[in-house]
Amino acid sequence: MAKEWSPESLPDLSGSVALVTGGSAGIGLDTARHLALRGARVYFTAMTAAEATSVRETVLAENVSISSAQFIPLVFDLTDLASIAKLVDDVKANEDKLHILVNNAAIVPFSYELTKNGWERAMATAHVGHFALTNWLMPLLKNAAEDPKADVRIISVASNVNYEILPAKFPLDYTSPEILTGKYPYTPWQHRLLQLIMTTKHMFLYAMSKLANVMFAKELQRRLDEQGSSILSISLHPGLVGTEFMMELWVSWIHPFLTRSFWSSDKGAHHTLMVAADPSIRARAEEVKGQYLEPNGKLVLAHPISRDENQVRGFWDVTTEALNETLAEQGLPVLLDW
Ligand SMILES: NC(=O)c1ccc[n+]([C@@H]2O[C@H](COP(=O)([O-])OP(=O)(O)OC[C@H]3O[C@@H](n4cnc5c(N)ncnc54)[C@H](OP(=O)(O)O)[C@@H]3O)[C@@H](O)[C@H]2O)c1
Repeated sequence: MAKEWSPESLPDLSGSVALVTGGSAGIGLDTARHLALRGARVYFTAMTAAEATSVRETVLAENVSISSAQFIPLVFDLTDLASIAKLVDDVKANEDKLHILVNNAAIVPFSYELTKNGWERAMATAHVGHFALTNWLMPLLKNAAEDPKADVRIISVASNVNYEILPAKFPLDYTSPEILTGKYPYTPWQHRLLQLIMTTKHMFLYAMSKLANVMFAKELQRRLDEQGSSILSISLHPGLVGTEFMMELWVSWIHPFLTRSFWSSDKGAHHTLMVAADPSIRARAEEVKGQYLEPNGKLVLAHPISRDENQVRGFWDVTTEALNETLAEQGLPVLLDW
């Protein structure tokens, strides 16, 4: 049997700069922590200053080899564009290069709800916010990639729900601006049943946002390739991990079965870490770039919509237009034409 991958396989990351969103809990926190343990300077995000401080203190106290200059908190809300712009300014004030960007934060909404920008909350968090963040950080990522020895990667933490929950032939149109508002034509009976007996949250909207992560990673790679960039963009499923996020999803009678089968958040961070920094992924760059990977770097076909070029490119354009319109309305800088 093949040896299980562990973060010890990661190379020395001293000199690398990483940013992990949703680094205050669960998989994101353990991803940020392990990157710092391997020597990277890591920016992690939290939603409040109090949470950021408390997470940082705990990590530094429990991991004495991580220096305080290596584990840097940032506060933002992915549904608030001004706070994303501010976070990018803060990073740019300290860094001119970024080697690893892990777009990890996400939510499963309890119900259908729009943010103040008029986007469905799960989509706004997992996709639209990360779209703006990645765009504004692109100068730092490209700058890092100028060094021929650098290995720059943008990771989109997606989920297998992209094809497990969304039926293969379900008529979703990612080229329509309505996709950002969480509109879909009807609720399949399987989802209604799941919602009725097993889950407490809106898995369908979550799955739509996770398919968005897969599509974003793919189109981002196509655009990077067009420019001859060496940057890798990859989406992934971390595995089934017993974070608070995951436990909250299921009604209580299922919990005893789940706790036995779910991974710890430490183990749940392993796949993200592997895809973000393991040399074996760079060695497979031509095979895996722009693709969706499941644990241990397994290449898996994501939902058919993510393989439809019109949908993938149209979704990128729809997001760009919606974001630029809203950014202009709010007097914020529009997206970079990188
Ligand atoms: N757990 C699993 O089994 C599993 C399976 C498949 C995919 N995933 C994916 O793995 C990633 C991490 O999941 P997890 O289980 O570690 O979840 P988690 O423990 O709930 O962590 C989510 C993180 O995202 C942050 N966040 C939520 N809303 C945000 C917003 N509006 N702006 C900024 N940050 C926000 C949270 O901050 P607060 O702590 O302040 O809320 C938290 O740090 C997600 O992308 C998820 O879809 C997880």
